[in-house]
Amino acid sequence: MRENFDNSGKLKRAISYIPALIPAFISTLSWKIFARGDVSVMTAIKMRRSIRHYKDKPVEREKLKKILEAGRLAPSAGNMQEWKFIVVSDKNTREKLAMAAHSRFVVEAPLVIVACATITDCVLESGQLAYPMDVAIAVDHMTLKAVEEGLGTCWVGDFDERKVKEALNIPDDVRVVTLLTLGYPKYVPGPRKRKKLEEIVAYEKWS
Ligand SMILES: Cc1cc2nc3c(=O)[nH]c(=O)nc-3n(C[C@H](O)[C@H](O)[C@H](O)COP(=O)(O)O)c2cc1C
Repeated sequence: MRENFDNSGKLKRAISYIPALIPAFISTLSWKIFARGDVSVMTAIKMRRSIRHYKDKPVEREKLKKILEAGRLAPSAGNMQEWKFIVVSDKNTREKLAMAAHSRFVVEAPLVIVACATITDCVLESGQLAYPMDVAIAVDHMTLKAVEEGLGTCWVGDFDERKVKEALNIPDDVRVVTLLTLGYPKYVPGPRKRKKLEEIVAYEKWS
C-alpha cells in the first residue's frame, strides 16, 4: 500500500515535468532536422540557444574553421578587427577556464573559444568603447554559423579575467571579452522568453 502511494507520487512528479520537457524535445528534434548546413540567417537566429550540456564528440576542424571565418568577416569600428580568438581544446586548460568561470559545462564542451580584444582604448564619438561591441559582433556571427553546422555554443561572460589570462598566457594590455563554449549539444533547450517587439521598439521618438 505504502509502496503504491510512493509510486503514485513519483508518477505525478514525472508527469509534472512533461510540460517543461516538451519545448526541449521539439527544439532538439528540429535541430536534428534543420541544423545541417544551408540554414537561413533567420532560422539560425531562431534556433540558437545557450547550450550547457555537450556530447563527448570532437568538433571537426573544417567546421571550426568555418565558424572562425564567420567571426573574421564581422564588421568592426573603423575596420579595426581588434580581436584575437584563442581556441582551447586541452582538457587541463579547459579545467582552468571552468574554474575561472565557475561553470562545469566549460569542461564538458570539447572546445572553448576565448575571445579577446587587442585594442582596448578606442572610444567612439558617442563615448562608447569600441572593443566590447566589435568582439561581441564577431562572436555572435560565430554562434549563428555554429547553428548551421549543427553545433551549440554558450556565451560565458562571468569569469575571473585574471585567472583566464594566467591559464592562457594572455598579455596584460589585452582584455578577455567572453568565453564561448562550442560542441555538439546533448539536447537543445526550449526558447527563453523574449520581450515583445512593442516593448522594445519606438518609432521616430523615444516613447
Ligand atoms: C554577454 C553575455 C554573457 C553571458 N554570460 C553567461 C554566463 O556567464 N554563464 C551562462 O551560463 N550563460 C551566460 N550567458 C547566456 C545567457 O544566459 C543566455 O543568452 C540568455 O539566458 C538567453 O538564453 P538563450 O541564449 O538560450 O536564448 C551570457 C550571454 C551573454 C550575451
